[in-house]
Amino acid sequence: MTTSSSSAVQNNNLKEKLIKVVVLIFLLLVLVAALFFTHYGNNKYTRQTLKLNGSLSTGDGLFKMNCVGCHGITARGLVGPDLHAVTDRLSDSQIITQVTKGLTPPMPSFEIEPQNMADLLTYLHTLN
Ligand code: HEC
Repeated sequence: MTTSSSSAVQNNNLKEKLIKVVVLIFLLLVLVAALFFTHYGNNKYTRQTLKLNGSLSTGDGLFKMNCVGCHGITARGLVGPDLHAVTDRLSDSQIITQVTKGLTPPMPSFEIEPQNMADLLTYLHTLN
């Protein structure tokens, strides 16, 4: 009697452990999938942007509308840093991340079409 009831307890413990392991594996899979899709999404936007030819005049206009408040009308810096030679310091994909991800407040994240992002990059490349 004692033996059989203690083995029933052991069985229950084993079941609980199994359920925990299954739940953990499931959560891990969800996490990996989420990371994969975020990463893939980012890369897709960046790859698409880097394939496009930017227009300097559109980029200049976009900069005047969206960026001068913080980076200054001549991009010499105000609240945000001077952006001259920024294309030497950062790669194009780093700049895309800077503009679209909002990782460094107070700089906001911009929801911007790949073509407009390419235009902005072209403009930034002219700041030496
Ligand atoms: C609300 C203010 C603000 C606006 C608007 C803004 N920025 Fe910024 N930006 C900043 C600040 C502040 C930093 C510095 C962030 C840090 O490094 O912590 C920065 C950093 C950057 C950098 C990185 C500079 C470096 O040397 O690392 C780039 C590139 C940049 N901004 C581009 C842009 C562009 C392009 C726009 C317009 C689409 C824009 N920013 C709009 C505030 C702003």
